[in-house]
Amino acid sequence: MLAKPKGTIDVKGNDALLYEYVSSLVNTIMSSYNYEYIRTPLFEASELFHRSVGESSDIVKKETYDFLDKGNRNMTLRPEGTAGVVRSFIEDKEYALPDVKKYYYNGTMYRYERPQTGRLREFSQFGVEVLGSNDPLVDAEVISLQYKILEALHIDNLQVNINTLGDAESRDNYRDALVKYIEPHLDELCDDCKERFKTNPLRILDCKVDADSEVLKNAPKTIDYLTNDAKVRFDTVLKYLDLLEVDYEVNPKIVRGLDYYDHTVFEVVSLDNNETRQSVLGAGGRYNKLIKELDGPESYGMGFACGIDRIINILKEMDLYKSIKREVDCYVMYVSEEEKLYALDLIQSLRLNGVICETDYLNKGLKGQFKQADRLNAKYLIILNNEDLQKGLVNVKDNVTKEEEKVDISEVVEYIIGNL
Ligand code: HAM
Repeated sequence: MLAKPKGTIDVKGNDALLYEYVSSLVNTIMSSYNYEYIRTPLFEASELFHRSVGESSDIVKKETYDFLDKGNRNMTLRPEGTAGVVRSFIEDKEYALPDVKKYYYNGTMYRYERPQTGRLREFSQFGVEVLGSNDPLVDAEVISLQYKILEALHIDNLQVNINTLGDAESRDNYRDALVKYIEPHLDELCDDCKERFKTNPLRILDCKVDADSEVLKNAPKTIDYLTNDAKVRFDTVLKYLDLLEVDYEVNPKIVRGLDYYDHTVFEVVSLDNNETRQSVLGAGGRYNKLIKELDGPESYGMGFACGIDRIINILKEMDLYKSIKREVDCYVMYVSEEEKLYALDLIQSLRLNGVICETDYLNKGLKGQFKQADRLNAKYLIILNNEDLQKGLVNVKDNVTKEEEKVDISEVVEYIIGNL
């Protein structure tokens, strides 16, 4: 039997309702922050991700879905959203506009990871990218926006773990200190970390295998190697977060697994969930170098992305969401061909007036139609029969109180709307 590929899911039933609910809440909150929706391609030139996410990142080294298209071009299914948005910003020369661009997106991403709870090969993210401003206000707004969306979904015990990598000088100072510290301990680390030591030593701090080792626990902290400017900048971000009432903790271990970050980096976790890596609901940071690295001018960027599938896993456990079900306003019942013609016309009018309306497609008898209406939690039933129709009437039944009433067929749409 044909089955879905490993690490993918079919979203349907009540899960589909939750995905729709999260997306519509995201749309509403994004518009009040005045973010513009952007949709970039599902696949891009592989080079884009090599140059942005980084050659030494786990994503590019092991996890991308790469293919040669029929024109022999190297293509990659997007593993994340930032690179495509930045590519589009540069391609359309939006850096030359007088205002900051504030984009949000919502879509599927692809990473060849080992599937487990909260870790899929095709997964959904919503996220934002703010391009063109280096103001610490943007860092605080982006972090609080993600936090407020999760709060609006009633996810409890949220905490932002925040750190700074500083500017180029801070990073160089830190890198030197880290290399000096790690070198005598290299034998104690995993093979991947030995490789990372040569290519990108900062990445060692992000290792899933060595995370709890004494070597990493005692490693130098980025925060102790900041230039004065970088420290002042970070303190300002924290001051703004206090003002916006975001619960954060400075965590020097956060360095993030993608190459493009500088200054602020952060993750948002729900402390309810003990499986720490899987409870990371979203993450992001500042990436001022990236625009230049992708052949744009000197500019600035800051963003986050949130894992929707992980959010849904949490919502499914919460009482608030367990009772969510699909409901229809009105079920239209008919038996004969003449009644069916009236039904068709009436259903169309109800639907075009915003009434959620359903009917029979299987030539069921009335008994079967009553049962289906109950399965659909229909609030009203409209029961058509030839005799009433001759007099210009239809039978409307309130499916909760079970009261019935004859209504003039020309007034039935307004009657239903008025009673919903
Ligand atoms: P990321 O940390 O790679 O960052 O992913 C962000 C979120 O996507 C994670 O916290 C997690 O919730 C979700 N996620 C990642 N991988 C998977 C997976 N395999 N299955 C399910 N969910 C997953 C980024 O993607 C950056 N582009 C964020 C960013 C935006 N930085 C700046 N702007």
